[in-house]
Amino acid sequence: MRIIAFYSPKGGVGKTAAAVNIAYLASQDNCRTLLWDLDPQGASSFYLAGAETVKGRKLSKLLEGKAPIAKFIHDDVYPGLDFIPAHTSFRNFDIKLEQESGSNVLRDMLAPLSEETSLVILDCPPTLSRLTEQVLEVADRVYVPVVPTWLAVNSWNQLQQFVKDKKLGARKLRPFFSMVDRRKNLHKEIVEQGREVLPNGMGVAVPYASVVERMGEEGLPLERLAPHSPAAEVYRQIWAGIRQDLWKRRPG
Ligand SMILES: Nc1ncnc2c1ncn2[C@@H]1O[C@H](COP(=O)(O)OP(=O)(O)O)[C@@H](O)[C@H]1O
Ligand SMILES: [Mg+2]
Repeated sequence: MRIIAFYSPKGGVGKTAAAVNIAYLASQDNCRTLLWDLDPQGASSFYLAGAETVKGRKLSKLLEGKAPIAKFIHDDVYPGLDFIPAHTSFRNFDIKLEQESGSNVLRDMLAPLSEETSLVILDCPPTLSRLTEQVLEVADRVYVPVVPTWLAVNSWNQLQQFVKDKKLGARKLRPFFSMVDRRKNLHKEIVEQGREVLPNGMGVAVPYASVVERMGEEGLPLERLAPHSPAAEVYRQIWAGIRQDLWKRRPG
């Protein structure tokens, strides 16, 4: 079982859109996937069909060890794609983590799933909290959407420094450009600088596209909504890059 996260200290940069699209593509690629929405604002549910039926459960039960993680999972929202929706109680995650200092609570929670699940995708809130630190620690790779503005590049640099300082393994961070509007000179300029701006970058840029916005309205991953769109092609490239990062060849 591999664990990845979509994370950025900035909100509204395309983390959830990417997490959902990659989760769907992975599940279609014979890779049993669990998508866990850790953001109490809970946007993932909107992007998945049947969002109304996908209700989050109080995490306290899980945190208190009163219920196994399996009870929180919605099986097969698509074939091969399991989902843990967010719940407002996720806000209290940090308190629990303070109490459990020393162990990685996320790792312990996910351990029972390692037999049947090939890939866990954590969709993170845009905070730098104890929870995020544990995510950064437990994840094999962390994918970071960066909108091509200097402010966003700056916060990417800060994240890199944070991961270095905490000795979490800076190489596990894999940034990619997100919401790129090539009509904007600044976006073009920054994206053209590629890996100079984003060292260890994935070499892909998700375009700013209205079809991505429509995912929320339609409750569909892009591969279902608009598989022939340029943005869908970029998400497929990102999935290929992730597969390469995690397994070199095929999921297994
Ligand atoms: N590539 C894109 N092009 C256009 N809109 C996008 C794109 N990616 C995300 N969005 C929209 O921007 C908003 C924030 O995206 P989201 O993925 O929820 O960001 P985050 O999880 O980083 O907060 C959503 O309304 C989403 O539909
Ligand atoms: Mg989000």
